[in-house]
Amino acid sequence: MKLIIASNNPGKIEEYRDILEPFGFQVVSQKQEAICLEVEETGTTFEENALLKARAIYENTHCCVISDDSGLEVEALGGEPGLYSARYKGLPTEHERRLAVLEGLKGSDNRKARFVTCICFIDESGQEHLFTGEWNGVIAEKEEGSNGFGYDPIFISEDGNGRTTASLPISFKEKYSHRAKAVEKLMAYLKLLRFTPSHL
Ligand code: IMP
Repeated sequence: MKLIIASNNPGKIEEYRDILEPFGFQVVSQKQEAICLEVEETGTTFEENALLKARAIYENTHCCVISDDSGLEVEALGGEPGLYSARYKGLPTEHERRLAVLEGLKGSDNRKARFVTCICFIDESGQEHLFTGEWNGVIAEKEEGSNGFGYDPIFISEDGNGRTTASLPISFKEKYSHRAKAVEKLMAYLKLLRFTPSHL
C-alpha cells in the first residue's frame, strides 16, 4: 500500500522509509508523487500543523499519509520557540536561533525545556490518527557538540547524564528522543491493526 510522507526533507523521508517499509508500506515522498503543495502552518499547536500538512496531501491523493511537526518549548520563555522553532525570531541560521534561546535565558534559574513531536497518520479511509512524543530536559549554559541538528547543541535531556544531545551519539536520540517516542506509538498502533506485509 502506498504511503506518502508529507515532507521535502530527504533525511526525514529516509527515516520514515526505514520505519514503515517493514510494515509493507511503499513509502514515497511528496516530490516523487509530483505534489507541489506549500501548506501554511497556521495551526496553534503541533497537532494542528501536522494535521494541516497531512490533510492537504490526503485530499489530493486519497493515499495513506504521514506528516509531523516538532519544536522546542522553553518554560521560562513562555513556551517559545515552540511552533516557531524553525524560524525563531526570524533568524536565518540554527546557530543564531540557539544563541537567541541562550540570550533569552540569561539570568534565569529556570532552564526547563522539552522537545515535542506530533506525527499525523491518515489511513486510506481518511481516518486521522495523532501520536505525540515529548522529551524533557534543560537548556545548557552554552552550545556543545556537533551531532544532530537544530537545538541539539543546547539541549540536555533528562537521560543525557548532563551532556547535550549534540555531544552524544546519534543512536542515543534514536532511542530516547521525542520523535522516537512518537514513532514508537505509531508503530504500536500499526502492529495493533496487524499492518504487516502479509496482510497488505
Ligand atoms: P520539524 O517540524 O520536525 O521540521 O522541526 C521544526 C524545528 O524544530 C527544527 O527546524 C528544529 O529547529 C527544531 N527541532 C525539532 N526536532 C528537533 C530535534 O530533534 N533536535 C533539535 N531541534 C529540533
